[in-house]
Amino acid sequence: MDHGKVKVIVLSYDYKEIVPYLLDWFSYNARILAWRENPRPYYVWVSEIMLQQTRVEAVKGFFDRFITELPDIKALAEADEEKLLKLWEGLGYYNRVRNLQKAARVVMEEHGGELPADYEKLLTLPGIGSYTAGAIASIAFQIPVPAVDGNVLRVTKRIAGSFDDITKESVKKEVWQDLVRIMPSPRPGDFNQSLMELGATVCLPNGKPLCDKCPVMHLCQAFHKDITMLLPVKPSKKERRIEEKTVLLMEYQEKYYIRKRAGKGLLAGLWELPNKEGKENAEITYKVLSEMGYQIASIDNLGEVKHIFSHIEWNMVGYHVTLNELPSQIVAEHSDYIWASKDDLKNIYSLPAAFSAYSERWKEKEK
Ligand code: ADE
Repeated sequence: MDHGKVKVIVLSYDYKEIVPYLLDWFSYNARILAWRENPRPYYVWVSEIMLQQTRVEAVKGFFDRFITELPDIKALAEADEEKLLKLWEGLGYYNRVRNLQKAARVVMEEHGGELPADYEKLLTLPGIGSYTAGAIASIAFQIPVPAVDGNVLRVTKRIAGSFDDITKESVKKEVWQDLVRIMPSPRPGDFNQSLMELGATVCLPNGKPLCDKCPVMHLCQAFHKDITMLLPVKPSKKERRIEEKTVLLMEYQEKYYIRKRAGKGLLAGLWELPNKEGKENAEITYKVLSEMGYQIASIDNLGEVKHIFSHIEWNMVGYHVTLNELPSQIVAEHSDYIWASKDDLKNIYSLPAAFSAYSERWKEKEK
């Protein structure tokens, strides 16, 4: 018996065989998308940042508007912050667009206004991690590097029939290593997108894959073992912290009260409707506002709304408060607030989606 050798287990899977099937499938099944029809590096970059946490269908309109307003990296680098946030309104995760602009400024200063055609250099830019760098490098520059996102992890782990926990960084790295060895050239970008596209349209999450439509069904371990509904393994996240709030849509002469949030923390630096901790009923809200000196004409309950962030959940109650008069002492005491018209709210200020169930009320009144 030989006790002198150490057995090394290499945790890798050979995905080589899936490449031609996926490329062929993608040629015929890729959705027609603006950033695919014209994969300029800037377009691919903007679309990939928008597509993080947002579905393709929802991104299309945002992408077109963004590119019309800010057609190139220079325009993005020079854009006014309020305009930038307005273009992002509805997509959420506003730090993504702030980082996009930071990176655009670095690209203007250090890369002559062009995104570098280099995976490692892309990785140094704000907001660009391994996934985005891989997507830009492969789709815009034809560099054979993987782009591993949630869809790709689900597809690859099902094909491999693997019970690895896909929330682990080490597992993501292994998939990256397994894919980098088989990246096709030409068409590395098409290969990455075929994995994403398969995940988005066929290899669906939550035990609902459309295996009969899958071009690699015959190579899929999960399909053969009938375990697709068990994969991928993704332990559930910690529970969210719940915060209760009372939110006010305050109206005075067709203008609405908004204020800027603090520069740090949740929804940093964005505009918000006045709100306070805890859920209050209409009577108490009326009393508190009256004691502060507001002359209230009416107060309507706008109902209860839940908004879910990644780590926090807001359980809110909202009131539409119409004022008769605005005493000057209140204006002086609340210098951090502004009264914004409907046009200002439509064109200038962006209120995060957390408030939209209440803030959309002024749009309804317009109809
Ligand atoms: N999800 C994120 N990026 C994508 C892309 N380029 N194609 C399909 N789905 C995606």
